[in-house]
Amino acid sequence: MQFLIINGPNLNLLGKRQPELYGRTSFEEYLEALRRLFPNHRIDYFQSNIEGEIIDTIQQADGKYHGLVLNAAAYSHTSIGIADAVTAVSVPVIEVHISNIYRRENFRHFTYLASRCTGTIAGLGLRGYELAIRYLESGA
Ligand code: DQA
Repeated sequence: MQFLIINGPNLNLLGKRQPELYGRTSFEEYLEALRRLFPNHRIDYFQSNIEGEIIDTIQQADGKYHGLVLNAAAYSHTSIGIADAVTAVSVPVIEVHISNIYRRENFRHFTYLASRCTGTIAGLGLRGYELAIRYLESGA
Protein backbone atom coordinates (compact mmCIF):
# COMPACT_ATOMS: atom_id res chain seq x y z
CA MET A 1 0.00 0.00 0.00
CA GLN A 2 1.03 3.60 -0.45
CA PHE A 3 0.79 6.28 2.18
CA LEU A 4 1.74 9.93 2.22
CA ILE A 5 2.76 11.86 5.31
CA ILE A 6 2.28 15.62 5.03
CA ASN A 7 3.88 17.86 7.62
CA GLY A 8 3.14 21.55 7.88
CA PRO A 9 5.01 24.64 9.04
CA ASN A 10 8.03 24.42 11.32
CA LEU A 11 8.00 20.63 11.39
CA ASN A 12 11.17 20.77 9.29
CA LEU A 13 12.76 21.87 12.59
CA LEU A 14 11.82 18.71 14.51
CA GLY A 15 14.70 17.63 16.72
CA LYS A 16 15.82 21.23 17.26
CA ARG A 17 12.50 22.99 17.91
CA GLN A 18 11.21 22.93 21.53
CA PRO A 19 12.62 19.44 22.18
CA GLU A 20 10.79 19.26 25.54
CA LEU A 21 7.55 19.21 23.50
CA TYR A 22 8.51 17.61 20.22
CA GLY A 23 11.53 15.44 21.10
CA ARG A 24 15.10 15.33 19.83
CA THR A 25 14.58 13.22 16.74
CA SER A 26 14.48 14.85 13.32
CA PHE A 27 11.62 13.75 11.09
CA GLU A 28 14.10 12.37 8.56
CA GLU A 29 15.56 10.07 11.25
CA TYR A 30 12.09 9.00 12.37
CA LEU A 31 11.01 8.38 8.78
CA GLU A 32 13.86 5.91 8.25
CA ALA A 33 12.73 3.95 11.31
CA LEU A 34 9.09 4.17 10.20
CA ARG A 35 9.90 2.82 6.74
CA ARG A 36 11.74 -0.10 8.36
CA LEU A 37 8.60 -0.86 10.41
CA PHE A 38 6.52 -1.08 7.22
CA PRO A 39 8.78 -2.76 4.67
CA ASN A 40 5.83 -3.80 2.51
CA HIS A 41 4.36 -0.32 2.15
CA ARG A 42 5.58 2.77 0.39
CA ILE A 43 5.64 5.80 2.68
CA ASP A 44 6.15 9.10 0.88
CA TYR A 45 6.85 12.31 2.74
CA PHE A 46 6.16 15.97 2.03
CA GLN A 47 6.83 18.95 4.28
CA SER A 48 6.02 22.57 3.55
CA ASN A 49 5.81 25.84 5.40
CA ILE A 50 3.43 27.14 2.71
CA GLU A 51 -0.32 26.65 3.05
CA GLY A 52 -1.04 26.50 -0.71
CA GLU A 53 1.60 23.82 -1.25
CA ILE A 54 -0.08 21.67 1.37
CA ILE A 55 -3.45 22.18 -0.36
CA ASP A 56 -1.93 21.28 -3.76
CA THR A 57 -0.36 18.16 -2.29
CA ILE A 58 -3.63 16.97 -0.72
CA GLN A 59 -5.45 17.51 -4.02
CA GLN A 60 -2.77 15.68 -6.01
CA ALA A 61 -2.72 12.76 -3.55
CA ASP A 62 -6.33 11.82 -4.30
CA GLY A 63 -6.46 8.47 -6.09
CA LYS A 64 -2.72 7.91 -5.69
CA TYR A 65 -2.56 6.83 -2.04
CA HIS A 66 -4.43 4.51 0.28
CA GLY A 67 -4.26 7.11 3.04
CA LEU A 68 -2.76 10.41 4.14
CA VAL A 69 -1.29 11.25 7.53
CA LEU A 70 -1.57 14.99 7.98
CA ASN A 71 0.09 17.11 10.62
CA ALA A 72 -0.80 20.58 9.38
CA ALA A 73 0.86 22.03 12.51
CA ALA A 74 -0.23 25.63 13.17
CA TYR A 75 -2.40 25.62 10.02
CA SER A 76 -4.63 23.04 11.73
CA HIS A 77 -5.91 25.86 13.91
CA THR A 78 -6.29 28.47 11.16
CA SER A 79 -6.76 27.00 7.69
CA ILE A 80 -10.22 26.58 6.21
CA GLY A 81 -8.42 26.04 2.87
CA ILE A 82 -6.60 22.91 4.09
CA ALA A 83 -9.81 21.67 5.75
CA ASP A 84 -11.70 22.15 2.47
CA ALA A 85 -8.99 20.25 0.58
CA VAL A 86 -9.38 17.32 3.00
CA THR A 87 -13.14 17.39 2.41
CA ALA A 88 -12.68 17.56 -1.37
CA VAL A 89 -10.66 14.34 -1.67
CA SER A 90 -11.88 10.80 -1.14
CA VAL A 91 -8.62 9.40 0.26
CA PRO A 92 -8.85 8.84 4.05
CA VAL A 93 -6.91 11.39 6.09
CA ILE A 94 -5.73 10.93 9.68
CA GLU A 95 -4.84 14.10 11.57
CA VAL A 96 -1.77 13.75 13.78
CA HIS A 97 -0.30 16.08 16.38
CA ILE A 98 2.92 15.15 18.15
CA SER A 99 2.07 17.10 21.27
CA ASN A 100 -1.16 16.90 23.21
CA ILE A 101 -2.82 20.03 21.84
CA TYR A 102 -5.55 19.75 24.51
CA ARG A 103 -3.00 20.27 27.28
CA ARG A 104 -1.63 23.41 25.63
CA GLU A 105 -2.91 26.93 24.97
CA ASN A 106 -6.64 27.32 24.30
CA PHE A 107 -6.05 28.39 20.69
CA ARG A 108 -4.65 24.91 19.98
CA HIS A 109 -7.75 23.11 21.27
CA PHE A 110 -9.73 23.72 18.10
CA THR A 111 -8.68 22.35 14.74
CA TYR A 112 -10.48 22.94 11.45
CA LEU A 113 -9.31 19.48 10.39
CA ALA A 114 -10.72 17.27 13.14
CA SER A 115 -14.27 17.30 11.78
CA ARG A 116 -13.04 16.59 8.22
CA CYS A 117 -10.62 13.75 8.99
CA THR A 118 -11.26 10.06 9.61
CA GLY A 119 -9.70 10.47 13.05
CA THR A 120 -7.22 12.42 15.10
CA ILE A 121 -4.21 11.29 17.13
CA ALA A 122 -2.65 13.82 19.50
CA GLY A 123 -0.09 13.69 22.25
CA LEU A 124 1.54 10.33 21.51
CA GLY A 125 4.73 11.83 20.15
CA LEU A 126 6.14 10.68 16.82
CA ARG A 127 4.47 7.31 17.41
CA GLY A 128 1.25 8.97 16.30
CA TYR A 129 2.43 8.65 12.67
CA GLU A 130 3.05 4.92 13.08
CA LEU A 131 -0.34 4.39 14.71
CA ALA A 132 -2.07 6.32 11.93
CA ILE A 133 -0.45 4.10 9.30
CA ARG A 134 -1.39 0.97 11.27
CA TYR A 135 -5.00 2.12 11.14
CA LEU A 136 -4.86 3.00 7.45
CA GLU A 137 -3.20 -0.29 6.48
CA SER A 138 -6.06 -2.14 8.11
CA GLY A 139 -8.25 -0.69 5.35
CA ALA A 140 -9.92 2.31 6.93
C1 DQA B 1 1.56 20.42 16.36
C2 DQA B 1 0.70 21.23 17.34
C3 DQA B 1 0.38 22.61 16.77
O1 DQA B 1 -0.41 23.34 17.70
C4 DQA B 1 1.66 23.38 16.53
O2 DQA B 1 1.39 24.62 15.94
C5 DQA B 1 2.67 22.61 15.74
C6 DQA B 1 2.82 21.17 15.96
C7 DQA B 1 1.98 19.06 16.94
O3 DQA B 1 2.41 18.22 16.17
O4 DQA B 1 1.92 18.87 18.16
O5 DQA B 1 3.44 23.18 15.00
O6 DQA B 1 0.78 20.16 15.20
